[in-house]
Amino acid sequence: MKRFAARIFGLSLFAFLVLAVAVRPATAQQDQPTIVHHRLIPAGDTCATCHKVIYDQWKASPHGANGIQCTVCHGETTAEDFAGMPALSTCATCHSDQVAQLKSDPFMKGKTCVSCHQAHIFAEHQKAPTAGE
Ligand code: HEC
Ligand code: HEC
Ligand code: HEC
Ligand code: HEC
Repeated sequence: MKRFAARIFGLSLFAFLVLAVAVRPATAQQDQPTIVHHRLIPAGDTCATCHKVIYDQWKASPHGANGIQCTVCHGETTAEDFAGMPALSTCATCHSDQVAQLKSDPFMKGKTCVSCHQAHIFAEHQKAPTAGE
């Protein structure tokens, strides 16, 4: 009976681990964007109306400074292919070296760009603002 219980425990642990590994990539950046439907945007609203914190982070980032708009990475919210999670191929249009390295370097296994560069701040580590700033 004890062995049976241990086996059940082992099995469910295994199933959990398999699930955890199988499910995780769906929430990470992939070659294809994760397509979602965005709610309708009232006339006169901009992205900043509802996503103020993200907008401010983006505005202060190298992307904001270089005019890389929200829609460059996410597409138009009205479009069928609106990207809730932009694809690696989107980053590759401007950062092909980094995407190539991510895919080939064993050290990068399981990582995506946002593992190291927080989305919208997208800062290099050395330049990242310290807490409280
Ligand atoms: C009227 C308010 C409103 C406006 C304007 C708006 N959004 Fe959103 N957006 C939301 C809400 C609500 C959600 C779902 C909750 C959340 O994740 O914050 C959302 C979710 C998102 C998501 C995450 C989608 C997902 O589920 O993974 C992205 C990306 C996004 N918005 C981008 C944009 C962009 C880009 C613009 C400008 C073109 C924009 N939004 C304008 C309200 C808005
Ligand atoms: C350089 C590409 C890029 C730009 C430009 C960009 N985003 Fe994103 N955005 C991403 C990535 C990548 C993610 C997924 C981040 C994650 O899961 O950690 C994301 C996720 C989101 C989400 C859902 C997750 C969250 O953090 O709530 C929202 C909402 C969003 N972006 C809104 C915006 C808005 C609004 C702008 C413009 C002010 C914008 N994004 C500009 C790449 C970008
Ligand atoms: C349309 C072109 C474009 C796209 C698409 C784009 N970027 Fe950028 N990115 C830039 C530019 C321009 C800069 C600022 C100049 C530079 O440092 O090369 C930059 C800078 C960066 C930096 C360096 C920040 C720093 O502190 O110097 C990171 C990290 C970054 N991008 C990540 C991403 C990621 C991740 C994606 C995809 C989600 C992405 N970018 C998509 C154009 C782009
Ligand atoms: C394992 C962590 C890690 C991952 C994953 C990662 N980066 Fe970086 N990235 C860094 C570090 C650390 C720096 C700054 C040090 C340097 O100059 O190499 C950097 C620098 C950059 C820069 C500034 C230019 C440069 O080469 O110095 C850009 C742009 C960039 N990364 C884009 C990306 C993109 C796009 C992805 C996804 C394809 C990505 N990074 C994935 C850690 C990472």
